[in-house]
Amino acid sequence: MIIHSADFVMSNTEVDKCPAPVLPEYAFIGRSNVGKSSLINMLVEKKNLALTSGKPGKTQLINHFIINQQWYLVDLPGYGYAKTSKTNRSKWQDMIADYLLERPNLVTLFVLVDIRHELQKIDEEFLQWAGESQIPLCIVLTKADKLKRSEVQKYAAAIRRGLKHTWEFLPRMIISSAEMKTGREDILDFIEECNADFKSGT
Ligand code: GTP
Ligand code: MG
Repeated sequence: MIIHSADFVMSNTEVDKCPAPVLPEYAFIGRSNVGKSSLINMLVEKKNLALTSGKPGKTQLINHFIINQQWYLVDLPGYGYAKTSKTNRSKWQDMIADYLLERPNLVTLFVLVDIRHELQKIDEEFLQWAGESQIPLCIVLTKADKLKRSEVQKYAAAIRRGLKHTWEFLPRMIISSAEMKTGREDILDFIEECNADFKSGT
């Protein structure tokens, strides 16, 4: 798929105020600092469309970007960001849960996991909740450039093994690097297929 345009639309704290749910939409979630905003920028080939930072907790709102005037990418805050009050944390959780459960045009939620680390408890808990909530998922393993080429499959297999404890059928899994543009075509091809299904109502 060719990206002709990618523009910021709006930031929100409430699902009701998000753009009218008529276009297909793809959201990105995962632990803080896992590379959600960087992956969005890599997909659309714009350096600073989504704001990134070396410090966790950069993205704090539901951010909509419109792509090719036809579909949305949504950058979400990370889970597991410790440096905030408990009240704040649960506000975030409610905001994210409301968005994920009440957005009828959410076609797929990309759940990002750092390829270098085995699944952490918070990833497992989130995936379990999302699976039980029947949110369509695709797992993206990020920062593959941080591993030697020969190690990538080994680390991906370890994450797959971890998931098999609780998942009978594993969600689709894509290996990525925002630095090297790894996984870009796979993710965009997948979105293109989903967009076609959305249009035909299947
Ligand atoms: P929050 O918004 O805080 O939840 O974080 P995020 O998941 O959006 O992460 P972000 O994209 O801001 O990236 C966090 C840090 O990881 C930044 O310093 C990025 O440059 C770095 N990073 C992201 N993706 C990659 C990648 O594929 N490879 C490498 N080497 N670094 C990456
Ligand atoms: Mg971010």
